[in-house]
Amino acid sequence: KNIHYYDEAGSSNDIAKKLAPVVEEGTIIVVEQQTGGRGRLGRKWASPKGGIWFSIILKPKVALSAASRLTLTVGLSVTNTLIQYGIPARIKWPNDVLINGKKVCGILTEVEAEIDTIEFVIIGVGINANMSLKDIPEDLRENSTTLRDEIGKSIDRVDFLQKLLHEMEQQYIRFNTQPFGEILSDIVSLSDTVGRDVKVTMPNRIVEGKVVGISKSGALLLKKEDGEVEEIIAGRCIYSK
Ligand code: BTN
Repeated sequence: KNIHYYDEAGSSNDIAKKLAPVVEEGTIIVVEQQTGGRGRLGRKWASPKGGIWFSIILKPKVALSAASRLTLTVGLSVTNTLIQYGIPARIKWPNDVLINGKKVCGILTEVEAEIDTIEFVIIGVGINANMSLKDIPEDLRENSTTLRDEIGKSIDRVDFLQKLLHEMEQQYIRFNTQPFGEILSDIVSLSDTVGRDVKVTMPNRIVEGKVVGISKSGALLLKKEDGEVEEIIAGRCIYSK
């Protein structure tokens, strides 16, 4: 229900943002191809035909600070869906899903809030599905991969999206009815980041250390050289080794 489909659009997150005030939560915008796909930190996101590009509008009754927990929960849903297909996916904090250490999915969460109350959250999910790395401009490839490159064949995108939306709905019900600790333990057990030596870059500084966990607020717990554990709410996480 409430799925809007477009052959082509600038960015599904932008369409979702315009619709959000007038539609019910759970409304989904799916596009075949984006001409202005956006990634995190102002980056571009290549969105050719064959991928799975969509945004979901949510209106959770939680504080603004819960948005990062939602992003992680969606990452868990994508990971669980890939695992249902027998694909060994893992979650990279804060918003990526990896296969064999390479990025196959990115999540862009954008929040509209009034003081500390969320009005709506747009969660944009981009999955490099039936395409090859060659379809992504070289400067945007980074450490990415595509489902087809990893499993050697195309998937049925409609079937995949149905399974993913079902999984997201189940996790969202959990998100709204259970303490976050339950979802968090699933996230930690499928995390590619916990246990790694990383460098986290933030707008004003860089911190290095070993990831010892993810906190109840969805923050990275980083043990620094001096032994102190710092909670990192947001940033870009780069693996050191
Ligand atoms: C990232 O890893 O930087 C996040 C990428 C998010 C891409 C998706 S594709 C659907 C939605 N619309 C956008 O413009 N971006 C997100």
